[in-house]
Amino acid sequence: MSITSIGPDPSLVYRPNLEQKDKSHYRNFESGCLIGRVYNTYKLMHTHQTMDFVKKKHSEWSGCGHAQMKMMEAVLSLDKLVDESDPDVDFPNSYHAFQTAEGIRKEHPDKDWFHLVGLIHDVGKTVALWGEPQWAVVGDTFPVGCKFQNSIVFRDSTFVDNPDDKNPTYNSECGIYQPGCGLSAVLMSWGHDEYLYRVMKFNKCSIPEEGMYMIRFHSFYPWHAHGDYMHLCDDNDLRLLPWVREFNKFDLYTKTSELPDVEKLKPYYQSLIDKYCPGIMKW
Ligand SMILES: [Fe+2]
Ligand SMILES: [Fe+2]
Repeated sequence: MSITSIGPDPSLVYRPNLEQKDKSHYRNFESGCLIGRVYNTYKLMHTHQTMDFVKKKHSEWSGCGHAQMKMMEAVLSLDKLVDESDPDVDFPNSYHAFQTAEGIRKEHPDKDWFHLVGLIHDVGKTVALWGEPQWAVVGDTFPVGCKFQNSIVFRDSTFVDNPDDKNPTYNSECGIYQPGCGLSAVLMSWGHDEYLYRVMKFNKCSIPEEGMYMIRFHSFYPWHAHGDYMHLCDDNDLRLLPWVREFNKFDLYTKTSELPDVEKLKPYYQSLIDKYCPGIMKW
């Protein structure tokens, strides 16, 4: 895990290797200066994320008994986190939070809950600051309990030591699930998506269903970007898929060299937090 402490000047941590890019240049998992770090994170993730591991993490984190803090504190804690699975950025995640939120706000000015989802969607990564390894926090997600599909990044080389890949109960097309069972019945690899979804539910936050769904499945690229795992979806998943795809545009393509003025933006986003997830929350 890489923790970067930053001083008051963001230029101290911003690496100018992120230029404005053509869309096809995002999510390059074949080359680039960060590829070694990215590959290692996925290798560990794809080795250790098994059905047993995911169940263990659910019982460990779903009770939200680890910390108490306000949502803005959690957002700003991402100042200390650089996501090691991300081939596109090498600056702290808090900037990415405000970049995503502001991108959404520009195109969807009337949907304040959507702006807030942009701001908080990666806040679950804060557990990496509490000692969780990044391979159990960041990166793309995928279902456990059924076949690991080919669209998962580094599929060919990173699952060789995952025992579930050789377990006949888990490695068929549907594995332990019924066709059309719905993604809410599927156990996903454990990470910041499911964790934040649990935290929001536990604290009875009032973000609409579309937003909760974006939080829960935004890292499920094999599904929302590659169309895999459709055989597990129900009608509700298909109804909400366009929302996840709309969110993804901003999650991915707002990662640019223009770093937002966080101090200036804070009051607006605090007002949204006060509306949808106020006060001290349990984590
Ligand atoms: Fe994320
Ligand atoms: Fe993100």
